Amino acid sequence: MSLRLTLCVGPSPTTLSARRPIRVPSLYTITQRYNSDIAVHPRSSQPIVRAGLTGRSSVSGHVVTVFGSTGFLGRYLVNRLGKKGTKVVLPYRCHEDEKRHLKPMGDLGQIVLQDYDVRNYDQIVDAVKYSDAVYNLIGRNYPTKNFNFEAVNVAAARDIARACAETGVPRLVHLSALGAQEGSTSQFLHTKALGERAVREEYPTATIVRPGTLIGFESEILSRIGVFRKFLPVVNHNQQIVRPVDVADVALALDMMMTEADSEAQTYELYGAKPYTHQDIINICSNVFREKVNTVNIPKPIMKAVTGLLQYWIYPQLSPDQVERMFIDQVPSPHKNVKTLADLGIEPRTFELTVLPYIRHFRKPALNELGLDPKKARTFGKHPSY
Ligand SMILES: NC(=O)c1ccc[n+]([C@@H]2O[C@H](COP(=O)([O-])OP(=O)(O)OC[C@H]3O[C@@H](n4cnc5c(N)ncnc54)[C@H](OP(=O)(O)O)[C@@H]3O)[C@@H](O)[C@H]2O)c1
Repeated sequence: MSLRLTLCVGPSPTTLSARRPIRVPSLYTITQRYNSDIAVHPRSSQPIVRAGLTGRSSVSGHVVTVFGSTGFLGRYLVNRLGKKGTKVVLPYRCHEDEKRHLKPMGDLGQIVLQDYDVRNYDQIVDAVKYSDAVYNLIGRNYPTKNFNFEAVNVAAARDIARACAETGVPRLVHLSALGAQEGSTSQFLHTKALGERAVREEYPTATIVRPGTLIGFESEILSRIGVFRKFLPVVNHNQQIVRPVDVADVALALDMMMTEADSEAQTYELYGAKPYTHQDIINICSNVFREKVNTVNIPKPIMKAVTGLLQYWIYPQLSPDQVERMFIDQVPSPHKNVKTLADLGIEPRTFELTVLPYIRHFRKPALNELGLDPKKARTFGKHPSY
């Protein structure tokens, strides 16, 4: 059986012949909907009314809030949501220009930008109260003058989870980090673990996501290797083990979690197909650049002192805490109940297969003509070249 809805819009037509216009009912059909277009959210019991096929100009019926949308992962997630016609509420705190790329990711009126301060609880409530899913992508790798690790990774996470619980938001997905562990020597990893605990206390069915190092155009590790390829200071003799994962795979996984009932109250660790040492990553990048990356190993105390001086003015990304993290291997959790990309049906890809488009622009312009012919590539280390 099909349910047919007839929508009436616009002013009623009037009869032009009469002196005094007579109003007649306006009954022109603009769309037709069926039972299959109307679903009821399993947790909130709110109706979800779809319109159109999929695409930016359709309506998925979902309203989703994304905190931290102005960051690296945020743009990929918002793009995925916008592409399905989902209304996305984006709380932001940055300059006008830093969030304008998000606006065209959805149809007119579908991307709702809200100015907010994460320390203002009422503004958080305003941002989540109409949503049926919330993503918290807020995180900071380094402390700033106004926010320390605790404020961003724990206090803000707790407030968002509490606001979701109080306003009855049916789904919350919280971003943590692979290797998050209480008592870690890295403040970032320690506070991320505390943040996970705070979120679970406030919102027990939240989904916790711990990605490995994200790889994409905006990736900090790739930019650092590319920009400083003539002289790259490193620590730990490049022996840290990392689990890079393509940012597009993570965005896809986050998108799927919104509707997967199985993802409730679960922890996901999202990482790529293989572990690499930092030296492997550099070798693969060298193959793509077709140029040797010159590294010099700096002792940990000296690197920490130098980055401590530079972090507030010149290069905050490489903070002393980041240096500390370069001595901590990214190892997936041994617990069996922790899920991975494979549990969502996503096949994780290797770093060498995904990295090429993200760093190709660091090659000398003359080399672009060489294309991707592996026979013409020089190889550094044991990894296959392009
Ligand atoms: N990138 C990685 O390799 C990686 C690895 C593991 C885990 N993660 C986690 O995954 C999540 C997303 O990562 P990402 O790379 O997209 O991070 P990102 O590029 O650093 O973006 C972080 C986002 O958080 C927001 N934010 C930071 N401090 C804030 C504050 N005090 N108040 C309000 N907003 C604040 C930023 O807003 P502004 O733009 O206004 O600063 C930005 O939108 C984060 O939780 C991160 O810790 C990332």
